[in-house]
Amino acid sequence: MTTIRIPDSKHVLILAISVALALFLNPSFTTGQTSVRQRDKAVEVRAETLLKQMTADEKIGQLSQTFAFAPGATLEKRIRDGQIGSVLFLTDPAQINKLQRAAVEGSRLHIPLLFGLDVIHGFRTVFPVPIAMAASWDPSTVEKAQAVAAEEARAVGIHWTFAPMVDIARDPRWGRIVEGAGEDPYLGSAMAAAQVRGFQGEYLGAPNHIIACAKHFAGYGAAEGGRDYEAASVSDEQLQNVYFPPFRSALDANVGTFMSAYMDLNGVPATGNRWLLHDVLRDQWHFKGFVVSDADAVKDLKTHGFAMDAADAAVRAFHAGVNMEMAVGSGDFGAYLPLALKEGRITVAQLDDAVRPILETKIRLGLFEHPYVDEASAKQIIESPDHRTEARKAAERSAVLLRNEGGILPLKLSAYKNIAVIGPLADSKWDMQGPWTFANDANENVTVLNGIRDQAGRDTDVEYAQGVQISRKFPSPFAALLRGKRPEPWNEEQAKEQFSKAVQTARNSDLVLMALGETQDMTGEVASRSSLDLPGQQQQLLEAVVATGKPVVLILLNGRPLNITWAAEHVPAILEAWYPGTQAGNAIANLVFGKSVPGGKLPFTWPRNVGQVPLFYAHTLSHAPQRQGTRYWNEESTPLFPFGFGLSYSTFQFSNLQVSKPQIYKGDNSEITVDVENTSNVPGDEVVQLYIHQQYGSSSRPVRELKGFSRVSLHAHEKRTVRMLLTKDDLTYWSSATKSWIQDASTFDVWAGGDSTAELHSTFAVVR
Ligand code: BGC
Repeated sequence: MTTIRIPDSKHVLILAISVALALFLNPSFTTGQTSVRQRDKAVEVRAETLLKQMTADEKIGQLSQTFAFAPGATLEKRIRDGQIGSVLFLTDPAQINKLQRAAVEGSRLHIPLLFGLDVIHGFRTVFPVPIAMAASWDPSTVEKAQAVAAEEARAVGIHWTFAPMVDIARDPRWGRIVEGAGEDPYLGSAMAAAQVRGFQGEYLGAPNHIIACAKHFAGYGAAEGGRDYEAASVSDEQLQNVYFPPFRSALDANVGTFMSAYMDLNGVPATGNRWLLHDVLRDQWHFKGFVVSDADAVKDLKTHGFAMDAADAAVRAFHAGVNMEMAVGSGDFGAYLPLALKEGRITVAQLDDAVRPILETKIRLGLFEHPYVDEASAKQIIESPDHRTEARKAAERSAVLLRNEGGILPLKLSAYKNIAVIGPLADSKWDMQGPWTFANDANENVTVLNGIRDQAGRDTDVEYAQGVQISRKFPSPFAALLRGKRPEPWNEEQAKEQFSKAVQTARNSDLVLMALGETQDMTGEVASRSSLDLPGQQQQLLEAVVATGKPVVLILLNGRPLNITWAAEHVPAILEAWYPGTQAGNAIANLVFGKSVPGGKLPFTWPRNVGQVPLFYAHTLSHAPQRQGTRYWNEESTPLFPFGFGLSYSTFQFSNLQVSKPQIYKGDNSEITVDVENTSNVPGDEVVQLYIHQQYGSSSRPVRELKGFSRVSLHAHEKRTVRMLLTKDDLTYWSSATKSWIQDASTFDVWAGGDSTAELHSTFAVVR
């Protein structure tokens, strides 16, 4: 129980109001008795009461967030002095409580801190990376995963995650493609909403949940050349139809916060972009939460050649709509907004508007009543075996089977006496988890080798050889943050020896499982690549192993499409496992031995070659569409694998595509049904995908657009009718011709099937 110092009678009054409102706000008290509206009102009243007590400096303090890699006396003093409203990057509940005590017991108004962290794909239990979760095409799996992540994070005292990242990424050179849901606005929107629901629960402040943050608003995925942080030039049409929808979907799911992006958007830095953060977000979308800047993005406004100096940067970010500055050290808001207020560059009313949603968030989270975390119970929650089970299931549901010639998978154990497990990622605990994992224990990660060994049984020998080492040319800036060390690099002689040993191990086996891809720090922030080739000598190793004539199963661990054009011709089985997380090896073993059946689908178009990027399925048609696949004279311009693609151990057939009405009026829904049948003896999942194309209108529309999907589990030979609804929104788009949202009268093609090349076709018309 906290002892709060009460300095004067004014505070007695505030305390009394607080207690009354706390009772009122308590979900169990309010359920069924007070409406959401009344609860919102109570929050507003309480924030307003608090606001009236605050000095300008205390308000500016609430707008200031700082990293606390190693909290020290200076930070505690700043907190006690009311200069900090939020702290990020702590994961130790004792440290969190210590700083919280400084705020709650040491600061004049006892306003608790908001603790934030990038809880991207799990906390202590690491789930598959977001791109993998999107490949599950299963919002309920995604929601559950983020609910587990939220529960673990909240158990150590974290209140706020900087996730989901909902940036559309169509250029896999950009390393942050791993953090999002890929190329498609419809799939991206579904994943955005599912993540927000998972993190936040049913309402902002739900127990065991945390506040989510839709980032990075907006256009960050369109960084020039795929180079992280570079400018993005995105037309209004693309912004509205492609890049905005997942943000809008997060907002509709009631996301509590947004993060502004680093880069210039069409010449104006996103963090200083009032059109983006104010006109779109507040005026048009009616966002009521608060915006945090990306780390040091306010200071960057000077670097961009946008702000005159640091003071100008603070004022312009503030006016653009940034409520809270995330700063690595001391921020510009704290340093310059007090003077800006005195000089009239910002007003008290504007300051209040900026602070209000931050206070409201703290109130909704119940932090005034329960500022501290129970250090004793944290361990039990973060070590929950149930969470590990969920992580394993999610990894199994995310995997995408890209090739399975001759049905080599699932492996029949009795057929193999000696299995070779080869590759630099096969036994690397570290590389099972992907980027943005700061709170887990990598020792717990089950590697591919461990998983295979566990399940191979006594009658099958499993031999392992690493073969090659891979590393970045320019080290990741995050390397220092991750616990554990990379092994020493081999010298030339050792490298040759290891390579030959791996080939020999393959020769001595009946079957080879190769685990290739990218190390966990080769994707994520500051992890762009100019090539999509398998890094290091992996391609050479793969070719040498295939040359032994042994059957090879390639398991990919990565967060972006890689150049596997050679493998797609010469390696009989390819399983895209992504970075599966804590339970990697167990999930992969279950998949290759057939205890579970792969059912994931690609959330991006897989190019043959880096020269093709950006490559996405929803392009528009143009002159000579019959030559679409031969736009380059040297190589097919078609993808290696289309968007939405993924095989299974089952086989499926689609039939009987029906459109409810051949003609509908603008504004009406159209109901689509299709039959899907499991034509095999193996139970499995198929993702039913619905695509449309508007044949003519005020603008040209993409050749196909995903507008519905449903992952269905089918028993052997089971047939099911799947129903999907096309709504007015699905048939409306932002037109460059009218500069507005429009629904055209037109004829629409409809396709349903198992990927974006689905052939089952119908049409319907929309008339005035
Ligand atoms: C990243 C954000 C992240 C923040 C805090 C920045 O460098 O761009 O996505 O939330 O750091 O870790």
